[in-house]
Amino acid sequence: MEKEIRMPNHIGIIVDGNGRWAEEQGLSRSQGHLAGFKRLKELCIYAQELGLKYLSLYVFSTENFKRNKIEVKFLMDLFSEKFHSEFQEVMDLNMKIIFSGRRESLSKKILKEMDIMTEKSKNNTGMVINFCINYGGQLEILDMTKKICQEVVDGKIKIDSIDLETISSHLYQDLPMLDYIIRTSGELRLSNFMLYQASYAEFCFPKTYFPAFTNEKFYQAIVEYNNRNRRFGGNAS
Ligand code: IPE
Ligand code: IPE
Ligand code: MG
Repeated sequence: MEKEIRMPNHIGIIVDGNGRWAEEQGLSRSQGHLAGFKRLKELCIYAQELGLKYLSLYVFSTENFKRNKIEVKFLMDLFSEKFHSEFQEVMDLNMKIIFSGRRESLSKKILKEMDIMTEKSKNNTGMVINFCINYGGQLEILDMTKKICQEVVDGKIKIDSIDLETISSHLYQDLPMLDYIIRTSGELRLSNFMLYQASYAEFCFPKTYFPAFTNEKFYQAIVEYNNRNRRFGGNAS
């Protein structure tokens, strides 16, 4: 059965519900984030086994800086530590790690780990994992617009030659459009996730909190995707 499944080319996961999961278990929010990251790692390995090519993970939005300082620091330290400790496994699994988001406001410590990960994994040919950290979809569109305007001013691009390809290649990462967006925890919103790339994505909103979003539940979400009829504006088949 698993062999016959058709994988989307690019999946986006909005990792949500770590805090509520922890609360339900009588644990701290930090423990929820730890459990969430552990689950995330296992899910990445499983997704690659299923043949996924591109996986974008929304793990920290620009807006998440509004959270209390202790939680923000805990998350940033967790990301830095995990990028460091999981580095060898990423290499062994041949995964390529890239990042989307603004560098400003991120500490030197996390930027260093992100840069090492990007540089060392850049020639890997397995699944591409795009971590969205300090990411906001509106800001990505703003930053893309500024980059293109600057190149027009510098005479590198002519206004008439700007097309959709120009837009993709000036976003944080030049990735294929999202085919499927999964947001755990039951919230029915994008919260500023990859607004441009989401233009024709299918959506899935499992009610499960992320740390409890098992490989089986992920597989069920893929089965659901296989039952969708993607028309892209054409006639129903
Ligand atoms: C998702 O879990 C992780 C991040 C946004 C960093 P939350 O921390 O949003 O968990 P809830 O939504 O409060 O349960
Ligand atoms: C969305 O989750 C952002 C990430 C998953 C990184 P939030 O928990 O921050 O979103 P809202 O506040 O419920 O919209
Ligand atoms: Mg949340």
